[in-house]
Amino acid sequence: MFKTIEYVDDTVRMLDQTKLPLEKTYIDYKTIEEVGGAIKGMVIRGAPAIGVAAAMGMSLGAESIQAEDFDSFFSKWEVMGNKLGQARPTAVNLAWAITRMKKVAQDNKNLSIPELKSRLKSEAQTICVQDIEACKEMGNFGQTLISSGSRVLTHCNAGALATAGFGTALGVIRAAVNHGKDIKVFANETRPFLQGARLTAWELNEDNINVELITDNMCGFFMSKNEIDAAVVGADRIAGNGDVANKIGTYMVAVMAARHKIPFYVAAPISTLDLTLASGEEIPIEERSSDEVAHINGKRISPEGVTARHPAFDITPNDLVTAIITDKGIAYPPYTESLKELASKL
Ligand code: MRU
Repeated sequence: MFKTIEYVDDTVRMLDQTKLPLEKTYIDYKTIEEVGGAIKGMVIRGAPAIGVAAAMGMSLGAESIQAEDFDSFFSKWEVMGNKLGQARPTAVNLAWAITRMKKVAQDNKNLSIPELKSRLKSEAQTICVQDIEACKEMGNFGQTLISSGSRVLTHCNAGALATAGFGTALGVIRAAVNHGKDIKVFANETRPFLQGARLTAWELNEDNINVELITDNMCGFFMSKNEIDAAVVGADRIAGNGDVANKIGTYMVAVMAARHKIPFYVAAPISTLDLTLASGEEIPIEERSSDEVAHINGKRISPEGVTARHPAFDITPNDLVTAIITDKGIAYPPYTESLKELASKL
């Protein structure tokens, strides 16, 4: 099994997701600025993985600071953290990880600066380990919703590549397979970045899980032909009322699933909940370069002079979500109450 991200000695090593599936290469990062660039440039992507990368980046930033006392250390580090926090706006795990690292520093301000740096490094490594554990918990809860023989649609990549390992939506599928269930996965290709075609298809295939690739505009067809039994996706941020921000096209899948009375499940760790937001309308949506829409593999596919749009995420309203699978249990509507209850189990 591959490692999406790891922190060894003074290096954060990431599997380069811009090159998959054609090349399996790793890149080593030694500064917080480089880690910010990797998040922005999609070398690492997927909400939980972005959170883990941010925590490790914060540790690299801490290591680089020369300071005699806590206050001067923290003020320099906070500036670095604020910049890193702007790398991508939608996945709340980025801000979540930076806030957690800052709290650990504040709680340990009595340590010497070298001791504090090593405390922060071990916290980043703990966040990585806990992310894998959370995915496995989610998988165990979520697999109870998937019966053997199911044909499951997923969108984007919410797998081991989008987390420190195992995955959220694909974690549910892995857990079902590990329980001996016979599962077939339909992977939406996920235009324009092709996370489904390049990443989901790759990692499921590596694990010998039955996966078939379809283009995004085919899922309605397969639902209407009774070839899909459930949809399971991940999330980048979930508002207090259960509205879900996830990869562009997720909303379309949820509408089609409702039309065909197919359950639509969202799998995400508690760190993806943003209970400070009342609804999905408040979630910032990243607008990425229109070049990613107008080009494929660096080759232009639309006429020069025609503009293109690229919102990278959309919001699925809570009434289209059958259940939200978390590492603390499964939430059902009304989400305003059930999500709060699960979050309080932390
Ligand atoms: O733009 P990306 O590839 O970072 O978007 C990823 C997604 O939308 C995933 O579905 C989401 O982060 C959940 S990952 C476990």
